[in-house]
Amino acid sequence: MKFSKLFSNLQEAPWYRTFLNPVINQIENNSTLLDIGTGSGKMLEILSNEKNVNCIGTDTSEDMLKEAKLKLQNTTSKLVLTQKGKSLPFDKNSFDYITICSVFFHLEKSEIDIMLSEYLQLIKKNGKIIILTPTGNNNIIQLSKHLFSFKNTTIYVWYKATKKRAKLWKNNKHLLNYTSKYKLKYKTKIVMYGFAQLEIITK
Ligand SMILES: C[S@@+](CC[C@H](N)C(=O)[O-])C[C@H]1O[C@@H](n2cnc3c(N)ncnc32)[C@H](O)[C@@H]1O
Repeated sequence: MKFSKLFSNLQEAPWYRTFLNPVINQIENNSTLLDIGTGSGKMLEILSNEKNVNCIGTDTSEDMLKEAKLKLQNTTSKLVLTQKGKSLPFDKNSFDYITICSVFFHLEKSEIDIMLSEYLQLIKKNGKIIILTPTGNNNIIQLSKHLFSFKNTTIYVWYKATKKRAKLWKNNKHLLNYTSKYKLKYKTKIVMYGFAQLEIITK
């Protein structure tokens, strides 16, 4: 089975909603949102259906976007295949939110900085850039205590697969440093019982 299909199945487990909820809770009804690295599209499905959000998802993987298309077929969400390092085909000041879930912690700092400088132009004046990343904190016992269910077995795979890079991301505090360098506003919050970190950048 292709990784994109496995990932799409994993997004259907209840724990994945718990992971995405801190971002979903930030988003106002009827707003405009660009989701970078949308993968197989679960968050856009939820936001379109539950909050009537006007969503666009981008990804550099054609396979992921094929899976996203299946999840989003009954929604108004749009999908755009993008190329790493190339600028995005959107107008300045277009979005209330740009969301980036489980993407930045896989990328080089220099690439992230170029992406952020573009996103700061694409968000509206009071727009928010919202970043969600696993922390790699805690342990399997804590994970089971909060999220064990026979439907949630994939959470252990996720925890193990992301732990190392997640810890590096959290300890490096890259977005704190970036925002203080460019005099932007930055907030962070540990969410999902300590297993994820929400970071919010505003101008
Ligand atoms: C772990 S998945 C996360 C998917 C989704 N955001 C979620 O949280 O469920 C990371 C996704 O980011 C995509 N990606 C990696 N680098 C990217 C880039 N520079 N621009 C857009 N997408 C990227 C990958 O193809 C993959 O689909």
